[in-house]
Order: sequence, then C-alpha cells, then structure tokens
Amino acid sequence: MRNDNTTYQDGAFFQRDRAWHPPALTPDYKTSVLRSPKNALISLGNTISEMTGPVFGHAMIGPLDNDLIRNYATTGDPIGPRTIVYGRVLDENARPVQGALVEFWQANAGGRYRHKKETYLAAIDPNFGGCGRTITDDEGRYWFRTIKPGAYPWPNGVNDWRPAHIHFSVFGHAFAQRLITQMYFEGDPMIWQCPIVMGIPSREAVETLIAALDREASLPMDTLAYKFDIVLRGRRSTMFENRREGN
Ligand SMILES: [Fe+2]
Repeated sequence: MRNDNTTYQDGAFFQRDRAWHPPALTPDYKTSVLRSPKNALISLGNTISEMTGPVFGHAMIGPLDNDLIRNYATTGDPIGPRTIVYGRVLDENARPVQGALVEFWQANAGGRYRHKKETYLAAIDPNFGGCGRTITDDEGRYWFRTIKPGAYPWPNGVNDWRPAHIHFSVFGHAFAQRLITQMYFEGDPMIWQCPIVMGIPSREAVETLIAALDREASLPMDTLAYKFDIVLRGRRSTMFENRREGN
C-alpha cells in the first residue's frame, strides 16, 4: 500500500511500498526468471565502510560530463535529435536532495550501445559515448544534454523492443546507497509494449518514469527538453528497479 493516509510533515517516515514495484519474478521478462530470488531474503546490516564513504564532490565532475553531445565527440556532433533532460531529485517530502551524484547512460540514436557485449546491428556513432554524470545543485536540480536514444530489439520474446530510454543511477552519500531506474519519453507508444515496463504493476507507477516534453525549456532552433523529477520515496516515488530484487 502507498502512503495516501500519511500526514506529510518533516520527519514523517515512509514505509517502502513493495506493491509500487514489480514482483521480482515476471516471466514475460525472461531474465527475471533466473535473477529473481528462490529463497527468503536475508537482511544484512551496513558495514562502517559502506556507511561512511565516499562522499562525492563537485571537484570530481569534468566540464563535459553532463554533455553527451560533446563528451565523446571527435570529428563532429553525434547524429540524433538534440535533447535536454533536466529535473530535480526530491525526498519523500518534496525537499530537494542536494549533492547527489546522478549518472546516466543510453544507446545512441540508432538504438546501439557502445558496449563490448552489444550485438544489435545498428551502427555505432563514432562521436557518441552514451554516458555522463552530474551532481545536483542546492535546489536538487540536475541537467544534461544528449541526443535522443533510439528503440532497440532485445532477445526476450519473438519480437520485443525496448522503448527509447535513458538509464539513471542516483547515489546517496556512499556507494551502498544507490538507486537505479530508467526514464522514458512522453508520447512513445513503445513504452506500453515493453515486457520490462509491463512488469510494473500500475500505470501510475509507469507514468513516474515518463519524462514530459517541456517546450518552455527547449531552445529554439536547437534542442527539445524533457523534464524528469526523481522522487526517492513516498506517494510520488519514482519506480526504482533495484528494489525488485529486495535490495
Ligand atoms: Fe537500455
């Protein structure tokens, strides 16, 4: 159950809502059959090193780390729709989470990842690496520039395709505090045909993963913008995929 009856105030505790997240075993998403736990989960306490470090700082971020159009380019800009993705990282009380390391990775405009295990026949773009990172500012804001990724096929059912998406990781104050999710693009019909997305129980939860086209934040004659807020817990919590496995 979600926290619809909870009084929203500072310090209110929000139980993790497991009904908001997909069951670990969703057979239409075939790899979940082997990945899902077969035994009862064991709760492990954090160690001191997991709790205390590292702490991320702005000094570790390079000037092009949040610019996927330029951070791998050598002979020119990558091919594809120029895109801004921006938003805020918020806690369960809608307070900004500042200083959070946000990482993102994605396929290129043809739906091809730059990864040694990638087998899709779409071309590699020599000017596109497909990953970046940034740290949220005092208002919890993040921003990056990229090209819109393409859909790609994957070996699941006979003809399954992933909708265009960007993978996100949000770190807390230590490596043991990490949440991972995926962002989709408003208006994409492929979202509702994806076996991974369809593993999420409610349409409302899926919609937390869909970035809204924001014409006001777009740059005329240059770049379209999509807005994606990430909410860590509570009534408007983003659906994080690593909770599937009970982590
Ligand atoms: Fe992907």
